[in-house]
Amino acid sequence: MWLLLNTLRSPTLMTHMAPSAHIQPSVDSTSVFKSDLFRGKVLFCTGGGSGICRGMTAAMMKHGADAVIVGRKLDRLSQTAKELSEATGRACIPVQADVRQPQALREAAAKAIETFGRIDFVICGAAGNFLAPISGVSENAFRTVIEIDTIGSYNTIKATLPHVRASRGSYIHVSATLHYRATPYQAHVSAAKAGVDALSAVLAVEEGPHGVRSNVIAPGPIDGTEGMDRLRPKDNRSSGLSIPAGRLGDVNDVANATIFLFSDAAAFITGQVLPVDGGAEHLRTQFLPYPQAVLDPASVKGMINTKL
Ligand code: COA
Repeated sequence: MWLLLNTLRSPTLMTHMAPSAHIQPSVDSTSVFKSDLFRGKVLFCTGGGSGICRGMTAAMMKHGADAVIVGRKLDRLSQTAKELSEATGRACIPVQADVRQPQALREAAAKAIETFGRIDFVICGAAGNFLAPISGVSENAFRTVIEIDTIGSYNTIKATLPHVRASRGSYIHVSATLHYRATPYQAHVSAAKAGVDALSAVLAVEEGPHGVRSNVIAPGPIDGTEGMDRLRPKDNRSSGLSIPAGRLGDVNDVANATIFLFSDAAAFITGQVLPVDGGAEHLRTQFLPYPQAVLDPASVKGMINTKL
């Protein structure tokens, strides 16, 4: 969502990202980590049918894990599972479930156990978002985002925890950076992601003695995602973004953080939040003209593409 917000910043707030001789390109995880790192292990990923979570799942499979991907759209999940299996040689099972439905998630976890006999790693990635002010967002819309992001993560934890305990495994929650500062039009997702961060920290503390770790990845502006493709001109994607790393993020950047956090190299890291944003959060300004966007929402309606 960060990228969606930042692609919408007013041109008057934009500054050009200067070319740098020190830009580090994104690398494929296989050039850094052992290819059999997760052989014999099983990943359970909500939201794995597309975008960042698909990339995280692909990386885990490249390093030997089998996977269960969970989402609402079975067609897309099935296609993704097929493509990831063909690309990696590992098994990937698509399971249709809405994270708002605890029973559906319990059945998805049961399917993972029936198929693979274990769950080692869980990515709580399913999320929903749109831009709307508190004064305009309906009670149902606010609740919907909380139900998908926060309660959906809780439901995912509940459905998988006995199995993750059994394997002394690990959780990664996909959050955001936008709630570190107040972000207009994002009360619903800010509240939801703050809840996700808190949930992960408590999980780490409660489950650490059982051998389970839990961390958060907070992605920044990641290129090649649906939001970026939809909202940013293809020939001008990086203008207006101030990113110390000198480039937009890549799904590989999030995937590499995933491999590290799930690996034994992160055995002493739990209850933490890892922004993967090239340092962008430290330079972030309001993504819409302020206070113009608040006082006169109609003036930015074309930019934010939402119901006001
Ligand atoms: N602005 C304001 N309210 C919106 C909205 C928007 N752009 N889009 C949906 N809503 C409201 C709906 O109007 C509804 O509220 P209402 O009953 O008061 O009218 C409520 O949100 C639920 O919408 P609905 O479409 O019925 O729910 P859903 O479960 O099918 O969709 C969403 C969930 C709302 C999060 C939807 O945006 C979605 O599925 N998005 C795809 C995933 C996504 O957002 N990914 C981005 C991750 S960064």
